[in-house]
Amino acid sequence: MASLDPDPFGRNLSLFDHNLRFQRSCTIKQERDVVVAIDFGTSSSGFAFSFNHKDGSEEIYMNRAWGREQGYSTFKTPTCLLLNQQREFKKFGYEAAEKYAELEDAEDRSFYYFDHFKMMLYGSEKTLNRDTTLEARNGRRLRALDIFSYSLKYLKDKALERISEQSGVEYQTEEVLWVITVPAIWKQSAKQFMREAAYQAGLITPNNSEQLIIALEPEAAAVFCRQSKLREFVEGRNCDYTVSSAFVPAQTQYLVVDNGGGTMDVTVHEVDDNDDVKEIYHATGGDFGGTKVDKEFQNLLEKVFGKDLMDEFCRSHPSDWLELMNDFEMKKRGDRVMRGEETRVRLPANFVNLMRHENIGRSDNEIIKRHYHAEQLRISKEYLCLGSEIVKSLFESTINAIIKHLETLGKKKELRGVKLMFLVGGFSESPLLQAAIKKKFKHKYKILIPNDAETAVVKGAVMFGRRPHVVVERCLSETYGTDCCVDFINGLHKYEKLKIIDGKRKCQDIFSVLARENEKVKMGQCKTSTFCPILANQTTVGFDFYTSSNPDVFYTTDAGVRKLPGCMSVESPNTSKGTKREIKLEVYFNTEIKMIGIDVETGNEATTSIDFLWH
Ligand SMILES: Nc1ncnc2c1ncn2[C@@H]1O[C@H](COP(=O)(O)OP(=O)(O)OP(=O)(O)O)[C@@H](O)[C@H]1O
Ligand SMILES: [Mg+2]
Repeated sequence: MASLDPDPFGRNLSLFDHNLRFQRSCTIKQERDVVVAIDFGTSSSGFAFSFNHKDGSEEIYMNRAWGREQGYSTFKTPTCLLLNQQREFKKFGYEAAEKYAELEDAEDRSFYYFDHFKMMLYGSEKTLNRDTTLEARNGRRLRALDIFSYSLKYLKDKALERISEQSGVEYQTEEVLWVITVPAIWKQSAKQFMREAAYQAGLITPNNSEQLIIALEPEAAAVFCRQSKLREFVEGRNCDYTVSSAFVPAQTQYLVVDNGGGTMDVTVHEVDDNDDVKEIYHATGGDFGGTKVDKEFQNLLEKVFGKDLMDEFCRSHPSDWLELMNDFEMKKRGDRVMRGEETRVRLPANFVNLMRHENIGRSDNEIIKRHYHAEQLRISKEYLCLGSEIVKSLFESTINAIIKHLETLGKKKELRGVKLMFLVGGFSESPLLQAAIKKKFKHKYKILIPNDAETAVVKGAVMFGRRPHVVVERCLSETYGTDCCVDFINGLHKYEKLKIIDGKRKCQDIFSVLARENEKVKMGQCKTSTFCPILANQTTVGFDFYTSSNPDVFYTTDAGVRKLPGCMSVESPNTSKGTKREIKLEVYFNTEIKMIGIDVETGNEATTSIDFLWH
């Protein structure tokens, strides 16, 4: 533990002030031949890439043909993974879903099928670690890190294949600058988890870690939106002006709202004179994504047909269950609901048989009538026909949560100057969501939605890979600190914290804040705090690190404080200055947090990157 003298509060480092200074800027190499961005989504995943042409052109390529063999043709493929009985990779995406559907039911139980597993990383920062497991459809659990790395490896191999097709040249993974996007609201542990999955997938090695950029999804989308032409936006003017030149001059503040399958993720930026951006409020959001609408549909089925029947159907016909949900997934995207028309979802034959078997003597519509009028919900042949009001009700709670979040956020004083809102992410393509947001906020913000909101993140991530320093300042969403001792002050410090050290009354377990929630930190710069040894003759000074959910934390033992794994020892062999020796602690905030401890007298350095995944 280091001592901090003489500041009694453990927060205002009055002896040697915290200071920001330019040092050790990022070492990300920007001049790679090809940049590949992977958007690993809750619902679906994809990649985009661009070549570093000498003529400066930056065309972005995407795989537009996911699922062509299965009758689709989309920019992203469902995030689902199939492993065989030996836990070896079988399929990913549409192919995994198709293969799983083909499996005999008996075989189902021995194959491992995973979907929507990205959501497991949301809100799990306290428990997430390298041994965290995930449950497959067959009820068995496997290591989450393996599941993510199998998926990333598949996307990596597919990307390298497509790049070779496009360019006629074979590219090796080391020649690529990789970008993986993650929600801005993810905690450090989830970001580190993704990086480790990328190591395991062979995208990069820890030795060339700078070859992978972990980019924040709304930030990437913002880069895309600003560089896009007005004609590329819903209701946009038919002209070639970029959004930047038309609406985002220096000092403009804007919101980027990424409405995805799992989460809503919001970032607020201000553009500076160099066209770089500063985050003016920390990332916010929640677990209200498009898949919540699917959950509401499942709730409706349970209400109408009974939970037991639905559980039985799910258990005995898993592939039919997937087919039913896939059909809903496609149908809910349509705009029939906006015209007041019915949405028709196909019921698999096995479902209809089961339903009739459980309700002998009753017609299909008699079953429904117990809960809904025929104009709201009915069965016609093998279709479940949902009236527009019913479809709206399935979206209602998710849309309300999004609106409420934006309303609360919009009232923050930091956002007073915001006049522009970008809506991105697949769920932003929902006509119902668009209409609700426009109705509520059209007078407050100019609302811009790219025509292809679903791919804004991944295309923007390629651009971001080329210019990762575009974000010059971020706003911290957590408080970080180390523990130290200060002079004990009666009435201020708790007696249980009193400790006599070298004959002096000291207060131990003080949480010394290195960086506080909502504080703005410049990227590629470091923040320095200075400490002193507690004992005049100590030759090593140790630091432990903590995060706190309470920015006004006082002791490291307070509620909401979590000790981070990993510590740092700085050698300080020259004790001639006793406790007046300076030990500098430099904190580097980028996607990973790095600490360097320096004994000023001797120049001895110790470095640690905090391990957020060890428990
Ligand atoms: N037109 C539409 N109407 C309604 N929902 C839509 C529409 N288009 C896409 N969605 C929904 O948007 C979600 C997919 O969006 P997106 O691809 O941005 O998510 P993701 O990247 O997989 O998830 P996340 O970013 O949360 O990890 C799905 O839930 C999908 O059903
Ligand atoms: Mg997404």
